[in-house]
Amino acid sequence: MQRMRNPQLFGMKLSLYLYVATTVVIAACGSVQQTAVQQNMSPEPFRPQLHFSPQRAWMNDPNGMVYFNKTYHLFYQYYPDSTVWGPMHWGHATSADLVHWQHQPIALYPDSLGYIFSGSAVVDVQNTTGFGREGKTPLVAVFTQHNPQGEKQGRLDFQNQSLAFSLDEGKTWAKYQGSPVLSNPGIRDFRDPKVLWYADANKWIMTLATQDRVTFYSSPDLKNWKKESEFGHLAGAHGGVWECPDLFSFTHNGEKVWVLLVSINPGGPNGGSATQYFTGRFNGTVFTPVDTATRWIDYGPDDYAGVTWSNTGERKVFMGWMSNWQYAQVVPTKTWRSAMTVPRELSLVKQGETFLVASNPINELQTVTEKPVSLAGTMEGTFSGPAKLQVSATEPTDVTITLSNKAGQRVTLGYEKATGNYFIDRTASGHTTFEKGFAARHVAPRLSIQKEMSLTLLIDQSSVELFADNGLTVMTSIFFPDDGFSNVSVESPEKKNLTVVQLSPMKPVINQPPAARQ
Ligand code: FRU
Repeated sequence: MQRMRNPQLFGMKLSLYLYVATTVVIAACGSVQQTAVQQNMSPEPFRPQLHFSPQRAWMNDPNGMVYFNKTYHLFYQYYPDSTVWGPMHWGHATSADLVHWQHQPIALYPDSLGYIFSGSAVVDVQNTTGFGREGKTPLVAVFTQHNPQGEKQGRLDFQNQSLAFSLDEGKTWAKYQGSPVLSNPGIRDFRDPKVLWYADANKWIMTLATQDRVTFYSSPDLKNWKKESEFGHLAGAHGGVWECPDLFSFTHNGEKVWVLLVSINPGGPNGGSATQYFTGRFNGTVFTPVDTATRWIDYGPDDYAGVTWSNTGERKVFMGWMSNWQYAQVVPTKTWRSAMTVPRELSLVKQGETFLVASNPINELQTVTEKPVSLAGTMEGTFSGPAKLQVSATEPTDVTITLSNKAGQRVTLGYEKATGNYFIDRTASGHTTFEKGFAARHVAPRLSIQKEMSLTLLIDQSSVELFADNGLTVMTSIFFPDDGFSNVSVESPEKKNLTVVQLSPMKPVINQPPAARQ
């Protein structure tokens, strides 16, 4: 892995982290005053107020996302000793509503089998593993162990799949002593297991990233795995290695339609890391795509390694890492690095003969969204803290939305009729020189065939997420202005086409202090 070739940075310890003891949040008269000091967080520049971020140190992929006993669990790739990537642990946070997160102690530490790489978690309702005791349902984590010595020795089999389980709702975890449960057959990139219960055949299915394809395995008990099939070496995008797959289904007109997410790095539509998807059928053995076209769950540069929560029934909630390996380790945050996207509800949309996957911010975010204010008159507004902006038009129309601060730093985004593209331009967004490709204008095709056009923006301190046409085209972009953006203006040569231009302040979401270490 390329990012490991940075050894001088690995030992780097973070400077002492200062606790800020009190939290004062004043939300007054419908507009949010940003006097908030996030509990146990200093009011650092760039710190997201709507998005999950680690209190300190390095974070990448979301892992082990599972819903159990009214709690959403989020685990994540975490290196507590530095603000760059290193020996991976699983950090942990919990939430009752997917909006307010409570930091928890680290769940999994590296051991003699290696670092704890990405993976998933499932509720083993039937106790197929036998890990359950005294009627307690086990939560089981299935993850890759990456052995750095094996990698250094030039071996090919240094990534293997392991298990850990929890009998106290994710508070403490025991590693399964029989790990690895799936040994590497000699494939250098052999990682990121996403497991689901395939009820039709009473078995678990593991979708694993295996270099330039995914490989499906099945198991009766999560411990013994059998290879079923491979998919993808001739399908979709292949500009980089395949990572972090996910397989899940929607019911469409009484039939199951399966979605396969696959992240690739590099080779994204706007450079670096990105996540593509396929739709198709899955029969417990083979995935057969509807077509092999390349489609992206998010066309922007900053949504990677995203997968869905398990055990949420028909509902599919997705969250990605809001960064890009191209620059993730050099962005100008000081005490922590990276945030997650907002959780997004996925849905299936049939357009002609193809299925598209739409992503929209989860409804729970309404609880922190205040009443919208129409900007239709001046086409300008101000905000402080997170905000949601909605623009709709009767037909595809040139629109430029500018988010800016007093220093004149800005991000512009919108739609361009001549090319049929949505765009986000962060060339003048503030700090951009830390990586040569960062200052760029990114584009994404309009996929909707509906006449009406709509843009919903979620704006935070250092990110914007654009959900166009009810989530058919999505773009996420991060940026680092000296002060958070507080002005918005909307311009269009065909203003008469605009039916909605409205801004809703959003309440900052406060990360809770960590639970006491065990
Ligand atoms: C994706 C990824 C995964 C791997 C993890 C390591 O960003 O490269 O494939 O498991 O990060 O931190």
